[in-house]
Amino acid sequence: MDKLVNLTTQDGVAVITINNPPVNAISPGVPEGLVAALDAAEKDSSARAIVIIGGGRTFIAGADIKELELAASGRGSGPPKFHDILARIEDSTKPVVMAIHGTALGGGLEVAMAGHYRVAVPDAMVGQPEVNLGIIPGAEGTQRLPRLVGVAAAVDLCVSGKPIRAPEALKLGVIDRVIEGDLLSGAVAFARELADKGGALRKTRELSDKLGSEFVDASIFAAGRDQARKTRRNMLAPLKVVDAIEAAATLPFDEGCKKEREIFEECIASDQARALIHAFFAERAVAKIPDIPKETPVYNIRQAAIIGAGTMGGGIAMACANAGISVRLKEVEQAALDRGLATMRKNYENSVKKGRFSQEVMDQRMALIHPQLTYEGFDQADLIIEAAFENMELKQRIFGEIDKIAKTECLLASNTSTLDIDAIASVTSRLGMVIGLHFFSPANVMRLVEIVRGKATSKEVVATALALAKKLGKVGVVVGNCWGFVGNRMMLPYMREAQFLVEEGATPEQVDRALTNFGMAMGIFAVDDMGGIDVQWRVRQERKHLEKPGLRAPLMLEKLFHAGRLGQKTGAGWYRYDENRKAIADPEVHALIEKTAAEAGIPRRRLSDDEIIERCIYIMINEGAKILEEGYALRAADIDVIYLTGYGFPGYRGGPMWYADTVGLKKVRDRIAELHAQHGEFWEPAPLLNRLADSGTTFAAWDASREHALAAV
Ligand code: 3HC
Repeated sequence: MDKLVNLTTQDGVAVITINNPPVNAISPGVPEGLVAALDAAEKDSSARAIVIIGGGRTFIAGADIKELELAASGRGSGPPKFHDILARIEDSTKPVVMAIHGTALGGGLEVAMAGHYRVAVPDAMVGQPEVNLGIIPGAEGTQRLPRLVGVAAAVDLCVSGKPIRAPEALKLGVIDRVIEGDLLSGAVAFARELADKGGALRKTRELSDKLGSEFVDASIFAAGRDQARKTRRNMLAPLKVVDAIEAAATLPFDEGCKKEREIFEECIASDQARALIHAFFAERAVAKIPDIPKETPVYNIRQAAIIGAGTMGGGIAMACANAGISVRLKEVEQAALDRGLATMRKNYENSVKKGRFSQEVMDQRMALIHPQLTYEGFDQADLIIEAAFENMELKQRIFGEIDKIAKTECLLASNTSTLDIDAIASVTSRLGMVIGLHFFSPANVMRLVEIVRGKATSKEVVATALALAKKLGKVGVVVGNCWGFVGNRMMLPYMREAQFLVEEGATPEQVDRALTNFGMAMGIFAVDDMGGIDVQWRVRQERKHLEKPGLRAPLMLEKLFHAGRLGQKTGAGWYRYDENRKAIADPEVHALIEKTAAEAGIPRRRLSDDEIIERCIYIMINEGAKILEEGYALRAADIDVIYLTGYGFPGYRGGPMWYADTVGLKKVRDRIAELHAQHGEFWEPAPLLNRLADSGTTFAAWDASREHALAAV
C-alpha cells in the first residue's frame, strides 16, 4: 500500500504526492507525512525546489470532515490544528509550488496558500466552502486569502463559500499560473524557473499590499455582513468569517491567526456546525442502499423522452439537457408545446443574461430538446418520464401506451408526487423497469429527486435512477411507495396544522413569519399560493374518502377554492399579490377566516410563534417517525436530506429529524402528547418516537444501529 505522502524526484525537483483517497483530505497522518517529506526534500541536495501535488482525482479537498465531526460533537482530541505544517511549508528554504487539479477546498486551499506559488489545470476549482459546514476556515485561510486576493474578494469567497475555477483564481491572484497539458511537468518546469531565478521566497503571510485601508475596508466588511445576513439567514459562521478577515486587515499575521482560531473553535462547537456536518454526510449516505451494492450494473441513459411539457416536464427536460442528455418532449397540443418551449427558452435566456453560461451553451442545450406531438422516436429512448397531471387513470393510460412502444431495456418513470407506483406499473408488461422519479419544481433548479421503489422495481433500475440523479447534479433519495412518499406525506399534516392555526386565531402572515424566522425558505401559505390552491384542493378531493367522519378537517381551503382565490396565478390566495407577485396581507382573507371560524364554533385566541413552530414542525416529525417505522424511508437522515434539498428546511437545523434530536426526543414527544390531549387523534405520538423518547436515545442513534443491521442484508 502507498504511504499517505510519497516523495520522488523529477528533473531536479522533489515531488511530494499526497495519497489519501478518495479526496486527499488532511486526515491524521497527512500533516506528519508532509513534514517528513519536506524534511527529506530539503536535505536532498539534488532537489532545487519542491512541488506538492495530489494523487488520484484531486488536490486536497479540505480538512477531514470526519475529524471535524468528532470535534463538533466534543469527541476526539479537539479541532485539528494545522499551524505547524503550514509554517513548515512556508518556511521551507526551497521554493514550494503547489500543483492543483480537481479541487483545493477549505484546508486544501489553506495548505496551497502556504506554498510560495500555486499552479493549476484550467478546470481545477479552489474555494473556502467552510461556511457550508457552519464553520470558518480554521487553517489560517482568513489570514492568507485576503493577502493574496484583497479584502473584498476574500469576503465574497468566504461568505458565499462558492468555489471558483482556475482562470478566475488566476485573475484574482489565488494562483500564479494555469497549466495547459500535464500538470506535474508544468509544475516541475515552473519550480525549476523559480530555482533558477533565485532570490527571496515569497511568503503569503508577509504580503500586505492588498490588505487595503481602514476607511475603504470598513464598507467592505459592512457589505459582507449584509451579504451574510441576506444570503445565509440566521447563520453564525458567515458573519463570523467577516470578523476573522477583519482581523487579517487590522492585526499582525500571528494575532490575526489567534483570532481566527478563537472564532473557528466557537463555530465548531455550535449546533449549526453539528447540523451542517450531519447534512454533509447524510447527503452522501442516501446513495448507499443496503441491498443494492455499488457494483450493481446500471443502464446507460443517453436518450430520454418526456410526456408533458408543463412546468414539471419542461423543468425535467432542461435538467436532462443541462447534463447533455438528448430529450424528446411530447405534448398533446401544439399550443401547450409552444408554451412549454417558450418558458424553457425564457429560463435559459435569463441564465445567459445573468452570465451563468454563454449563448452558445444555451443553443447547445435547446438543440438537445426535441418538441413533438407524437410518440415518434420513443422506441429509441433509454428512459421515458411521464410528467402528466396527477391522475391515476391518465397515468395508467399513458403507461399502457408507452409499454407497447418502448424498447425492452427502457426505464419507465412516473413523476408522480403522491400516487401508487405499483398501480401505475400494473398496466405494463415490465414491472421491474417501472420506477417513480419525483422531481421538485422548478425541476431544473431543485436538487431533490425522490426515487420511488415499487415492489417489483429491479435493483438495476434503482441503481440507474441514483446514477442519473447524480449525473443531473441532483440528490436522489430512495423512498418506499406510500401515499405522498416521504416529502408530501409529511407535508400533508404540516399544511393541515397550519390551517388549524389560522382557524384558531393566527393570521397566514403570522404563521409564515414564524416559519421563516425559524429558518424555512418560505412560509407554508406562501408555498400553498405558489403551488396553487386548486392543486391542494384536488389532492384533498382524491383523499376525501380516507378522511374519518367526525375528525376535524381544515375549512379554509374549500372557501378559498370556491372564492376563485387559487394563489399567485389568480393574483390572490392566502395573500393578495401585486404586479410583481409580492405577497400582501389581505383583510378579506382575515375576514373570511374569522367568519369561517365563527360559523364552525372555533374560539379564536392569540397564538405565540413558539406554538406555531411546535405545531407545524412537530407534526412533521411525528409523521416522519411513522414513515421510518413503516420502512418507507431507510434512515432518519434520508428524511432530513429530503427536507433540506426539496422543502426549504434550514440546513443549519439539519433537517426535521435531526432538529428533533437537538430539541430532545423526550421533550418533543411530551409536547406531542400534550397536543394529543388538546387536539385529538392527529397528534397521537408515533410508536417509534415513544420508544426512542422513553429510552433516552435519538433518531441519529437509531440510524446508526439500523445501519449495522442493514449492512447485514
Ligand atoms: N473530509 C472527509 N471526507 C470527505 C471530504 C472531506 N473533506 N470530502 C469528501 N469526502 C468524502 C465523502 O464523504 C465521500 O465519502 P463516501 O464515498 O464514503 O460517501 C467521498 O469523499 C467522495 O465525496 P463526494 O461523493 O462528495 O464526491 P464528489 O466527487 O461528488 O465531490 C468534492 C468531491 C467536491 C470534494 C466534495 O466531496 C466536497 O465538496 N467535499 C467537501 C469539501 C469541503 O467542504 N472542504 C472543506 C472542509 S472543512 C475544512 O477544510 C476546515 C479547514 O478550514 C480547517
